[in-house]
Amino acid sequence: MKIGIFDSGLGGLSVLNEALSKLSEHEFLYYADVKNVPYGQKSRDEILKFSFDAVKFLIENGAEAVVVACNTATSVAIKDLRAKLSVPIIGMEPAVKKAHDLSRNDTLKTLVIATPVTVNGAKLKKLIVNLNAKDKTELLALPRLVNFAEDEEFDTQNVKSYLKNELSKFDLNKFDFLVLGCTHFNYFKDSLREILPPNVNIIDGNEGTVNRLISELSLEISPQKSTSKIKFFYSGKEVFNKSELDKISRNLSRLEKMREIC
Ligand code: DGL
Repeated sequence: MKIGIFDSGLGGLSVLNEALSKLSEHEFLYYADVKNVPYGQKSRDEILKFSFDAVKFLIENGAEAVVVACNTATSVAIKDLRAKLSVPIIGMEPAVKKAHDLSRNDTLKTLVIATPVTVNGAKLKKLIVNLNAKDKTELLALPRLVNFAEDEEFDTQNVKSYLKNELSKFDLNKFDFLVLGCTHFNYFKDSLREILPPNVNIIDGNEGTVNRLISELSLEISPQKSTSKIKFFYSGKEVFNKSELDKISRNLSRLEKMREIC
C-alpha cells in the first residue's frame, strides 16, 4: 500500500521512522511543506489551505491513506480533510491520554509542549476537558524549537539555554510526564532528558499514531527496516538533490537515536 505522510517540515520524519520499523512492506510518500514551515505561528486559514494542498497532492500521487504527522495541522484541519477527501486520514494529537493513563499519582501533573497554534487550539483544550485533566495539565508553547530543528541545530548551547529558560517557568518536580505535542520536538529528547529531573518521563505520539494507522487499515506488521520505498517531496516537488536527501537521512538517524529516550 502507498501511505502518505505529511508535516510542515522534517518533524514528521519521527512518524515515518516509527512506521518504517513496523511497516517495511509498504511504500511511503513523505511530504514536507518546507516553503511554509513553521505552521505553528500562522493563521488557521493559512494552515487549512496548506494542509489541503499537501494531502491532495499525496492522494493525486497515489497515496491510499494519509497520516497527518503534524499536531498543528491536525488541530486545525483534520475534520475538514476527513470530510472532503476520500482516503482514510490519520491525525496526530498530543499524547495527553497516554500520560493520563500511565500516571499513577494524582497529585503529579503533565506538561504538554507544542506550537502556539496547538496550545491555543480548541482541540487540545477539549481533549483535556474530556479526560477531566484540566487541573493536572499545563501547556507551554515552544515555537523556536521548530526553527532549530529545520536548521539542524539540535543539542547546542543555544537550544539548551532556550529550553532551560522556558522550562524554568515550572516547578518540574511537580510533574511526572512531559508530552511532546509537536513532531519537531523529537529531535531534542537528549537535551530535554538532560534538563528534566529523573521523575519526569518524556512521551511522544509516534507509536500511538502508527498503531492507529495499522489498526484503522488492518495492516500487517512487517518489522524488517528498509528505506528503499520512500519518495520525499518538498512542497509538491520531489526531492532529488543529494544534499537534501543526505539531510533527511541524517535526520532519520538522529530520530532513531532519540527514539529510545523517555
Ligand atoms: N511538526 C508540527 C507539529 O507537530 C508543526 C511545526 C510547525 O510547523 O510549527 O505540530
